[in-house]
Amino acid sequence: MSSKSDFVVVANRLPVDRVVDADGSGSWRRSPGGLVTAVEPLMRKRDGAWIGWAGDATPEGDGPLPPFENDGLSLYPIALTENEIAWYYEGFSNTSLWPLYHDAIVPAEYHREWWTKYVAVNQRFADAAAEIADTDAFVWVHDYQLQLVPKMLRELRPDVRIGYFLHIPFPPTELFTQIPWRRQIVEGLLGADLVGFQTPGAAANFLRLTRDLLQLKPARQSVEVDGRTVRVRAFPISIDAEAFTDLVNSPDVIARAEQIRHDLGNPRRMMLGIDRLDYTKGIDKRLEAFEELLDDGKISSEDVVMVQVATPSRERVEQYRMLREQIERTVGRINGTYGSVGNPAVNYIHRSLPREELVALYLAADIMVVTPYRDGMNLVAKEYVACRQDGTGALVLSEFAGASLELKQAFLVNPYDIEGLKAKYLEVLNADEADLKKRMRAMRRYLQRHDVMHWAQTFVDDMDAARERDGRGSAR
Ligand code: ADP
Ligand code: G6P
Repeated sequence: MSSKSDFVVVANRLPVDRVVDADGSGSWRRSPGGLVTAVEPLMRKRDGAWIGWAGDATPEGDGPLPPFENDGLSLYPIALTENEIAWYYEGFSNTSLWPLYHDAIVPAEYHREWWTKYVAVNQRFADAAAEIADTDAFVWVHDYQLQLVPKMLRELRPDVRIGYFLHIPFPPTELFTQIPWRRQIVEGLLGADLVGFQTPGAAANFLRLTRDLLQLKPARQSVEVDGRTVRVRAFPISIDAEAFTDLVNSPDVIARAEQIRHDLGNPRRMMLGIDRLDYTKGIDKRLEAFEELLDDGKISSEDVVMVQVATPSRERVEQYRMLREQIERTVGRINGTYGSVGNPAVNYIHRSLPREELVALYLAADIMVVTPYRDGMNLVAKEYVACRQDGTGALVLSEFAGASLELKQAFLVNPYDIEGLKAKYLEVLNADEADLKKRMRAMRRYLQRHDVMHWAQTFVDDMDAARERDGRGSAR
């Protein structure tokens, strides 16, 4: 493994998590979430280095972890102690920033010791990037856990080109300014040459903050800071659509999709939800709307079956524990009232699944229900569309997911509005097949042209264009 790289990805997580098996031996499991889904195919193409945390705790006082190869990727693990996991990851990243950036759906908490660890861990990531990046390398920093890294890295390595992409929403000034360390975060991000967001609204929120907080003079897609131009733009992220097409055509996956429908009792319609078990995803109201339609006698559980996959996530954070209890109570109540032996009304799975099984579920489902209260993009919605090769199937999609700006032919819904959700379910359950196909084909055409490689290329091209204007080299 070469010690320097001209393309470096810096993200809180590596694409794989270290897991200790029952016999005490270690193995690797794919990390959860959309960031890994999107960035992994790009890394394979660029043959770069990936700096991130392996998802487990390193004892206090242990030295740095050695780099390793996994499935053809060069990985540089960052060690986090139990205390850093509690304060930097579960604390500041996931109890301060995550809820705040998602409309403060649950209240954000701020603690000075969490912030101190956030700064220290960001510095560790920046030091590692400075060490690994070759002269003039392109270093691409990702997501809310690492917002201070661009500035820290620029101080260490002014020669490298720094891109930053936020995978989650970016809130308006009115919410962002709650953060006691708001200036440091904005200054941290401005260390990059290019700051990318999922939507134009998020980019505009950030530009406005540079004016409100730092008294800078932002232009439409850039801002001047310390004699440098920082570009600020939206780059809606996507998926490796071709990889999904390959899986959809696999005879094993097709057979598995048929088996799933058979096991469900061959219902007329199968509805599907696939999410991390997160309070931003709107799983509660999605299920309540389904329950009320059963209560009202508008649907029956023989006719319409729901499958909800809820991937375990951030399980030591209190709000996530409470959410799990709430969702499992709701599923239990619905099944207690409407299920029969061997045929629950809601089939609930709380574990990570292999990609093949997810694709079989996408293939089997007539209706995909994606109803987050707020979501940067939502790749599940795009994955479903990518899997519907024959143009069948329907997507119910929240207006508050970034994906709704692109998948305009979906059945858009306000996830807070239970009556609206119920009406939308009924509309889709009774929709005309020709209308469904027209919508799905339009979304598929869009996705074919806007896959994850297109996303990465637009980002890199934007960096190159800026660099050429400044008379420096290219990011390729
Ligand atoms: P988020 O990034 O908030 O988790 P996204 O919808 O953007 O939401 O991305 C979720 C990713 O995780 C998708 O690529 C999806 O296929 C994957 N995923 C979701 N649930 C599971 C599961 N149970 N097992 C494996 N992968 C999953
Ligand atoms: C979202 C975030 C990612 C995060 C993922 C899984 O996709 O944008 O940064 O990695 O969720 O969450 P976790 O806390 O398990 O890394």
